[in-house]
Amino acid sequence: MIGGRILHGGDYNPEQWLECPEILEEDIRLMKEAGVNCVTLGVFSWAVLEPEEGKYEFGWLEDIVDRLGKEGVQVILATPSGAMPHWLTQKYPEVMQVQADGKRNLPGKRHNFCYTSPVMRQKIHALDRELSRVFGRKENVILWHISNEFGGNFGDSTCHCEQCQEAFRQWLKKRYGTLEALNHAYWGRFWSHVYSDWSQIHSPAPNGEYTVTALKLDWQRFSTEQISDFCAEEIRAVREFSDLPATTNFMDFFKGLDYHRLGKELDIISWDSYPYWHEKKDEVPAAVRAAACHNMMRSMKKQPFLLMESVPSSVNWRPFNPVKRPGMHMLSSMQAIAHGSDSVQYFQWRKGRGSYEKFHGAVLDHKNGSNTRTFRQVAEVGERLAGLTEKLNGTVNQPKSAIIFDWENWWAVEDTTGPRLDLDYVSCVLSHYQAFWEAGIEADLVGMDADLDGYRIVAAPLNYMYKNGYAEKVRKFVENGGIYVTTYFSGMVDETDLCFIGHHPLEDVLGIVQEEIDAPSPEFTNSFCYDGNEYPAGGMREMIHAVDGTEVLSVYEEDYVKGMPVVTAAAYGKGKAYYIAAEPEQRFLSAFYADRFREADLVNPLGVELPYGVTVTARNGEDGKQIVFVMNFRNEPVRVDGIGTWTDVENGTIYTDSLEMGSFGCVLLRRQIR
Ligand code: GAL
Repeated sequence: MIGGRILHGGDYNPEQWLECPEILEEDIRLMKEAGVNCVTLGVFSWAVLEPEEGKYEFGWLEDIVDRLGKEGVQVILATPSGAMPHWLTQKYPEVMQVQADGKRNLPGKRHNFCYTSPVMRQKIHALDRELSRVFGRKENVILWHISNEFGGNFGDSTCHCEQCQEAFRQWLKKRYGTLEALNHAYWGRFWSHVYSDWSQIHSPAPNGEYTVTALKLDWQRFSTEQISDFCAEEIRAVREFSDLPATTNFMDFFKGLDYHRLGKELDIISWDSYPYWHEKKDEVPAAVRAAACHNMMRSMKKQPFLLMESVPSSVNWRPFNPVKRPGMHMLSSMQAIAHGSDSVQYFQWRKGRGSYEKFHGAVLDHKNGSNTRTFRQVAEVGERLAGLTEKLNGTVNQPKSAIIFDWENWWAVEDTTGPRLDLDYVSCVLSHYQAFWEAGIEADLVGMDADLDGYRIVAAPLNYMYKNGYAEKVRKFVENGGIYVTTYFSGMVDETDLCFIGHHPLEDVLGIVQEEIDAPSPEFTNSFCYDGNEYPAGGMREMIHAVDGTEVLSVYEEDYVKGMPVVTAAAYGKGKAYYIAAEPEQRFLSAFYADRFREADLVNPLGVELPYGVTVTARNGEDGKQIVFVMNFRNEPVRVDGIGTWTDVENGTIYTDSLEMGSFGCVLLRRQIR
C-alpha cells in the first residue's frame, strides 16, 4: 500500500488562495476533521511555480508541503504540464497543438500542448527536475503525478504540426522499413493512394486523407507513442533526485490513447472516475461501467490502483448534474476499494471562487465550512477507510475470468465502413461484462497482448482485429482447457486492417465458417432460442456454418436464414470455444454466461444467485485471507439469502444464512471460521 495506508483526500489547489492565509489554516483543520490523509498538489501550478521563464518560485509550495507533513498529511506531487502559462505560449507559439486541418490552436485552456515540441519538452524537463530536487526526498511526498489526463483535449487529442508530421514519418519508416511494405499494408493501390516518397505522408484529416483506415490506425498508435514518450521524459526528470514511484491519471474509457501502452511507463495506475449516478433510477448501467473501468485499471498491473479523482457531490459538465443521494457517496467510494483501489481521492478539496469549475462539487463548498451534507459524507468515508487499512493491506482481486478490451481493436472496429457505421465497442464489451457483474463473477479487462494463463473463461466480444500472435495464444488457451467466447464480426482483419483471406484465423478452434454478415434495418426482425427462451437477433447477424462436431445451441427462427446457427460450441483440446453470431440483448448474455460460469466451475464468493442490483467482489491476501464486498446499487433495501455464515469485517456482526442490506449499502465480510 503506497504511503502505508488507504489514501483519502484529493486535488488541493492552495495557489488559488495564497492571499488568504486564514483559508489555508481552515483547510488544514478541516482536512483532519474529514479524515483526509493525502492531497495532490501542483496539478495546474506552472504559472505560479515559474512565473517567468527560468525563475522558479517554490517557497509557497514548500511551506504547504512541510505544514501538511507536520499534520500527518501525505502529498502526491504533480508536474504541471497539463496547462501552460501565457509567457510560454507567447514566446514559443510552437508549443501549442495544431489541429488536423493545419490550424494552430490559440493560447489558453489546458491539455493544449504539442507532445513532440522540443521547446515544450525542455521547459517542462527543467521545471520537473527542479521539483525533483526540492521535493523528491521530502518525507511526506509519496508519489509523482505526471501531468494531468494526457490527451484530454476534448475531441482530437493529437497534434498535427510539422514536427509531429516529421516524427510520424520517421516512426512509419521504423515500423515498415520500406514504402513498398507500407503501401501494401495500407492497400495503397485502391484509389491510387500509393506513396512514392515518405514526405507525401500526412496525418489523417477531415479535409484530407481520412479514407485509409490503416493510416488512421497508425496515427493513433503514433500519438500514443508520442504521449508515452513525453510522459517517460517527465518521469526521467522527476527521478533525477528522487526514487519515488510515478503515475498519471487516466480517464474513463478514453479512446484517444492506448492506456495499455502508456501504462507500461508507470509504476502505479491511477484514474479519475465520474460515474453518472442517478442518470436513471436504475443505477446498474452506471455501476457496471464504473466497475469495468476499475477492473481495467487494476488488470494493467494486476495490482491495486489508485482512484485519483472522484466527485464528492456533483460534477458541472453534464446536461444533468445530480448530487449524490444519501448513501451513494459511500457506496461509490467503497466500490472503488472493492475493485482494487487503495485510495479514494477527490476533485477537489475546496471549490474555486471563479472560472470554469467554480460550480464543480468539492469537499468544501463556497459556504458553510464543514456544516454540509457533502462534508459529513466525506468524513464518514474517511473514518471508514482508516478502519480498513490494516484489513486490506496486501490484498488485491484475483479473477479467474477476463474480457478482452483492446484499444487498437476499438479504433479499428469503429472506423469500419460497413457492415454498420454505428458499432459501439465499449457498449458491447460492457453488455458482456454486465453478465459477469450480475453474477458476482469478477473479470479482468485486458488487451490482446495480455497473458491468458490462469483464466478459466475469456470473452472477446466484437474482436474484429487480431493482433499478431493473438490467434495462436487463444488456440493454446482453449487447448489447455479454457472457455473462449467470441462473437459476430470477430477475426476479420490483421493489425493494418487488411482482411484475412481464405478462412477465419481461428476457424479450427471455433468450429464455424463465417459466410455473410447481414446488417438489416429494424423492420426485418429475427430471433433465436436459447435454453427454451426466445431472444431477438439484433442489428448485426452473421450467417455461419457449423463444421462437423460443432454443437449448435441456437438457430435463427425466421426468414430465409431459418435453421442457420446463432450460438455454437466447439470442443478443442481440453477446452471449448463458443461463437455468438448475432447481436444479442442483455437478457441473453446473462443467461448464456450463467451457463458458462457453471461449466467453468466459477461461483461468486457468496455462492448464491444475487438479486438485481447487487454484486460481489473479493480482495485476496496471503494465507488465504479474503475480504468479500457485497454492494447494493438499489435505492431500497435488499436481502441476499442462502449465504451460509459470515462475519462483518467492520463491526463483527455474524450473518447466518441471510444478509439484509440498506439502500446503496456496502458490507465487508469474511468467512466465519467455526
Ligand atoms: C478531471 C480533471 C480535473 C477536473 C475534473 C472535473 O477530468 O482531471 O482537473 O477538471 O475533471 O470533473
